[in-house]
Amino acid sequence: MDDLREKYLTAIAGAGDEAALEELRLAAVGKKGEVSLKMRELGKMTPEERQVAGPKLNALKDEINSALSAKKVALEDAALEARLADEWLDVTLPARERPRGTIHPVSQVTEEVTAILADMGFAVAEGPQIEDDWHNFDALNIPSHHPARTEMDTFYMARAEGDDRAPNVLRTHTSPVQIRSMLDQGAPIRIICPGRVYRADYDQTHTPMFHQVEGLAIDRDISMANLKWVLEEFFSAFFGKPVKTRFRASHFPFTEPSAEVDIQCSWEGGAVKVGEGDDWLEVLGSGMVHPKVLEAGGIDPAEWQGFAFGIGIDRLAMLKYGIPDLRAFFDSDLRWLRHYGFSALQVPTLHGGL
Ligand code: DAH
Repeated sequence: MDDLREKYLTAIAGAGDEAALEELRLAAVGKKGEVSLKMRELGKMTPEERQVAGPKLNALKDEINSALSAKKVALEDAALEARLADEWLDVTLPARERPRGTIHPVSQVTEEVTAILADMGFAVAEGPQIEDDWHNFDALNIPSHHPARTEMDTFYMARAEGDDRAPNVLRTHTSPVQIRSMLDQGAPIRIICPGRVYRADYDQTHTPMFHQVEGLAIDRDISMANLKWVLEEFFSAFFGKPVKTRFRASHFPFTEPSAEVDIQCSWEGGAVKVGEGDDWLEVLGSGMVHPKVLEAGGIDPAEWQGFAFGIGIDRLAMLKYGIPDLRAFFDSDLRWLRHYGFSALQVPTLHGGL
């Protein structure tokens, strides 16, 4: 019995893992284990012998069992320690730098404009960038002989050979969305349409693709006064300070009367500053929607009237964020994008500031 004790306690103490421990358990106290076999021999002993050997064997079995469970706990603890040491993580280390994109100033300004005008009750409407000539011109009271068609430097799409319908165009302004929205929704209507427009033009302040936002409000008694209030309110919210506007009589085929709107600015030191000084900068076209345009939109001009305006978004971005050259907007130069771009977390809201 002493040999058995010595043998198993030493082996248990030296067991390297739980599998080895289990093997030892079977060999000692399992059904056919050495200690179990010895216990079976008790039956063949005389009662006197059994009285001596029985308790000793039981004690040995208990001793081996508790050595086994103590070792099991020790092995588990060691395994846990090893894992903790291995899977250790310093949560105070700074995060690894990850390449991060920026929000383009045009996207940012589009969001700003939308936030302001949505707050005044304008809903966002959209239309296709490839437009037919009826929506882009005729419905807006620009007939085919009209000089505005050539003035706009229109990009025409090619038609299949033998197809002699008028070619589609890349829309030259967002105004055709007025027509589509009127036909879709009828009156009353209050919408803005931000989006891309195209003209064959290229210099410091012109690119062949640029962005506009169209506004349209039609109801029973809308006047130029409403237009003026909306635009002044808009510019003050957009630039974050009171901005004076100047309405100049102008001409657009789709409005009567028409006005071009300038905002107050200064050119001191060569940089333009909005909302101060006594210079003026043209920023948009506007007017009362022409009766013919209402008719093209399926709205009765005897019952309804309204105003419309079209603002250049890129021009607004240049003014607000001091970006001197429009062409760079669309060069995809990473240095430019990082410099003028916005964090994705800078979501423009009226209450958070624009
Ligand atoms: N569509 C004009 C342009 O691209 C801008 C414009 C002027 C839009 C007057 C309007 C408006 O809605 O009423 O030059």
